[in-house]
Amino acid sequence: MIILAIDTSCDDTSIAVVEIKNKKMKVLSNIISSQEKIHKKYGGVYPTMAKREHEKNLALVLEKALKKAGMLIKPKVNAIAVTNGPGLDPCLWTGVNFAKALSYDWNLPIIPVNHIEGHILANLLPQIGSNFQFSIFNFQKNLPAICLVVSGGHTQLILMKKIGKYKILGETRDDAAGECFDKTARILGLGYPGGPAIAEQDQQWKSKINSKLKINLPRPMIYSKDYDFSFSGLKTAVLYDYKKRSPKIRKSKKYIQAMCAEIQQAVIDVLIKKTIKAAKDYRVKTIMLGGGVVANLELRKQFQDKIQEHTNFKFHVPSFKFCTDNAAMIGITAYFHRAETKQRKNIIVDANLRI
Ligand code: KG4
Ligand code: ZN
Repeated sequence: MIILAIDTSCDDTSIAVVEIKNKKMKVLSNIISSQEKIHKKYGGVYPTMAKREHEKNLALVLEKALKKAGMLIKPKVNAIAVTNGPGLDPCLWTGVNFAKALSYDWNLPIIPVNHIEGHILANLLPQIGSNFQFSIFNFQKNLPAICLVVSGGHTQLILMKKIGKYKILGETRDDAAGECFDKTARILGLGYPGGPAIAEQDQQWKSKINSKLKINLPRPMIYSKDYDFSFSGLKTAVLYDYKKRSPKIRKSKKYIQAMCAEIQQAVIDVLIKKTIKAAKDYRVKTIMLGGGVVANLELRKQFQDKIQEHTNFKFHVPSFKFCTDNAAMIGITAYFHRAETKQRKNIIVDANLRI
């Protein structure tokens, strides 16, 4: 089966072609057109501007995705998959309407996909740089799993009993982890997206063994008995610390680097503690991560070390290029929902769709 998948949930326009044969899958193309440069100067994503960019980009991205998959002349696609939520409402509608037009033109069914499930099933996509085709059978042997989805819009702990069967155990009560990185980076004048900018400052800080300045930030809700998170207090703590420093200190490399190292560590500490607690409480086999924040090297490393040292859980992370938004993850998710195609007129957007 060959699926053409579309994701326009936030600020990336992505179209992928994935092939599933004999229970193995292959990503034939996965084109992402980033709007990073456009939103950088505002320190966040503007939905109407993002929508306009999606409208400009979709046809070009489609052409590139088909060309890369070797089917520009005659697309051999069996179904169209599209993210219909959660995400930014105007952006989602742009992708959904594009999918409807394609489905009409090519006479193909549409499979609506939940973006969060996409981030989880990104774990099924092949690792970078190998021709390895992941087996769905091997994946299913590792369930049940606790999945931590951490992105710009979400921070959720989800119990996955099997593919398609999920329960949200906890989530953020205010800001998502990625949102916390984006907002604190903005306070520090580092631009958008904040996660990679903060990670870069942290790296520079770690490379300097001397000249340490220690900043202490809170680890919100780290010992709470539930599986919820809260990151807005962390952002406020950063703002207070920043405001009490002199203009000279605030602008210094030393301060920015020390602050970024502490912000990143505070977020990592909370995410690891709560995820391992959920995995123990629910006696699962595997801990699985997904979402843009999982592109963070330190987060991946510290999770891996903690799990290996203190537990027997298996550990799964998507390869880097499948952590941030991409349509390949929507394509593979659609495969598991291939029986749930809907009539074009019944496919609607739900910006707050729950898994
Ligand atoms: O999943 P994603 O691409 O889009 C959403 O669905 O929101 O996640 C984007 C988020 C942004 O908040 C960004 O700052 C964060 O992921 N991010 C990172 C890194 N790369 C992206 N956070 C920490 N470290 C990174 N390397
Ligand atoms: Zn996402």
